[in-house]
Amino acid sequence: MVTVSCIKADIGGLVGHTSSHPDILDLGREELELAKQRGLLIDCHVSHCGDDMFLIMTHDRGENNTEVHKLAWDTFIKGTELAKKLKLYGAGQDLLADAFSGNIKGAGPGSAEMEIDERPSEPIVVFMADKTSAGAFNLPLYKMFADPFNTPGLVIGEPLHGGFAFEIQDVKEHAQITLNAPDEIYDMLVFIGSPQRDAIKRVFNRESKEIAACSSTDKLSLIAGRYVGKDDPTMIVRCQGNFPAVGEVIEPFTTAWTVEGWMRGSHHGPLMPVALADAHPSRFDGPPRLVALGFQLADGKLIGPTDMFDDPGFDRVRDEANLIADYLRKHGPFEPHRLPLEEMEYTTMPLVAKKMNQRWKAITDDAGPQSIMSAPIAEVE
Ligand code: F6R
Ligand code: MG
Ligand code: MG
Repeated sequence: MVTVSCIKADIGGLVGHTSSHPDILDLGREELELAKQRGLLIDCHVSHCGDDMFLIMTHDRGENNTEVHKLAWDTFIKGTELAKKLKLYGAGQDLLADAFSGNIKGAGPGSAEMEIDERPSEPIVVFMADKTSAGAFNLPLYKMFADPFNTPGLVIGEPLHGGFAFEIQDVKEHAQITLNAPDEIYDMLVFIGSPQRDAIKRVFNRESKEIAACSSTDKLSLIAGRYVGKDDPTMIVRCQGNFPAVGEVIEPFTTAWTVEGWMRGSHHGPLMPVALADAHPSRFDGPPRLVALGFQLADGKLIGPTDMFDDPGFDRVRDEANLIADYLRKHGPFEPHRLPLEEMEYTTMPLVAKKMNQRWKAITDDAGPQSIMSAPIAEVE
């Protein structure tokens, strides 16, 4: 068995929240290389999307392994020290715990891990997003594993024809449920259609029982109880054979889906699939970006990557994303560009409400000069 772990964090941006400093990425590479030499890792690949560093690691220690999680945590801590020296923006912003306590979960960084029985040929795609939130993969995962208009393999590929099981997490209530496609898709869509609450954590082939996909569902704002940055999720997807083909796995991203995030984590924007060279969201701190790195596993070794969205086949969706970005930006501070109040990561609402409290008057039935003299409404918390 081999475990593929992708653990990621924003530990500092260059410039602002735009991109990652090459020295930080090199530091990550050196740390993981040392861990490889001492036998903890089989292989590793360090990459980035925007201001987030992604540690892609293979090992034989299983999921939630303390040593592997500690390696990631220590690497982020060391990276933060360097980020502070370079005075990068928001150095260490995702490291919310004071110290490592055995598992990276709940400490700030996001993680997606899967322990697999490596097939004779094991193609995987690792997705890395910036300026968006956990749950952003709900719609694409649905299309990959439940929509025959995206994945013809569900209809004409025998190993996929039995359907897929979706493990869904209610990130607010800390509850999870597994629902089966295709028979339970109407029930499933009730939940996953609200990605800010219900996020797809894992997907399994129902017949072979093999894990097909895993995404990070860690919600920074729920961990910290305040805005500290967007979750910028990651996802690992196995391809071919019992799973959708590589082309079926990346096909959902030919539409620039509307996701939460972008400027101040408080706006809807189009998710733009890009090559690594374009993974530095600058316009209005965005639009939200997605990079896909394809690897072949060879006894746990990461052969590759291929930069999957570095393909003119995705030019049109990038144009579409820019058109949607222009259109949404015109709304300025209005919904639906700005998120609904309860979903906004930043809000001045309590401050403004308090300041204006005395000026709000109750609306009385007999409108007239008297009504504006009525008592202020109750104190707003
Ligand atoms: C979005 C993001 C940025 C910042 C924005 C303000 O995820 O990180 O859009 O929210 O640049 O940043 P601060 O509050 O650090 O000045
Ligand atoms: Mg940042
Ligand atoms: Mg980020």
